[in-house]
Amino acid sequence: MQELQVWRYHADALQKEVFMKKISIYPGTFDPITNGHLDLVKRALRIFDEVIIAVAPSQKKQPLFSLQKRITLIRNAISTLKRAKVEVFEGLLVEYVRKKNGIAILRGLRAISDYEYELQMAHMNRRLDTKIETVFMMPSEEYSFLTSSIVKEVVSFGGSVKDLVPAGVEKALRDKLKNRK
Ligand code: COA
Repeated sequence: MQELQVWRYHADALQKEVFMKKISIYPGTFDPITNGHLDLVKRALRIFDEVIIAVAPSQKKQPLFSLQKRITLIRNAISTLKRAKVEVFEGLLVEYVRKKNGIAILRGLRAISDYEYELQMAHMNRRLDTKIETVFMMPSEEYSFLTSSIVKEVVSFGGSVKDLVPAGVEKALRDKLKNRK
C-alpha cells in the first residue's frame, strides 16, 4: 500500500514536470521597449513556452513614459507573439517569479559592460531563491549598442530611430518629446 502511494507521488511529480509550462520572466523598466528587447523575447520563445515581460515602475529612473503607457506600447509591439505577455511587477523580482510559476529570469547581455551588473543581480537573485535560474541571451548584434536612453536622446534631438523601435514607439516618443519643448 505504502509502495503504491510512493509510486503515485512520483507519477504526479513527473506529470507536473512534463506538463508544466516553462515560463520565463523578462524584467526591466522598458522606457520604452526597443527592437533589442523584442529580439530577445523572440529568441526566448524558442526555448520557453511563455515569456512574461515584467515591467517595473522604476521610479528612481524617472521614466519618460507612465507605467500604463509603457505597458500599452509593449502590448502593441507583441500583439503577434501569442506566447508573450506583459504585466506590471512590484517588489522583489524572485517573489514575482515564484507567484507566476516561472522557472527562469531572462536578461539580455549586449556587451561586456553589461556583465558585471548582471552577474551581481543574478547572484543576489540566486541567493534569494536557489531554484530560479537566470538565463542570459544575446540580442542580434545590430542591437548590441541599443538602450532605451540612447533612443530617447536621439529622438529628443530630432534624429530617426526607425528600425530600432516599433513604429508605435517612435510615434509615442515624438509626441512626448515634442510636447516637452
Ligand atoms: N535591447 C535594448 N536595450 C536593452 C536590452 C536589449 N536587449 N537589454 C537591456 N537594455 C537596456 C534597457 O533599455 C535599459 O536602458 P536604460 O538604462 O537606458 O533605460 C538598460 O539596458 C538596463 O535596464 P533594464 O533592462 O530596464 O533593467 P533595469 O536595470 O532598469 O531593471 C530590474 C532592473 C527592474 C530588473 C531590477 O532592478 C529588479 O529586479 N528590481 C526589482 C527589485 C529586486 O528584486 N531587486 C533585487 C534584484 S537583485
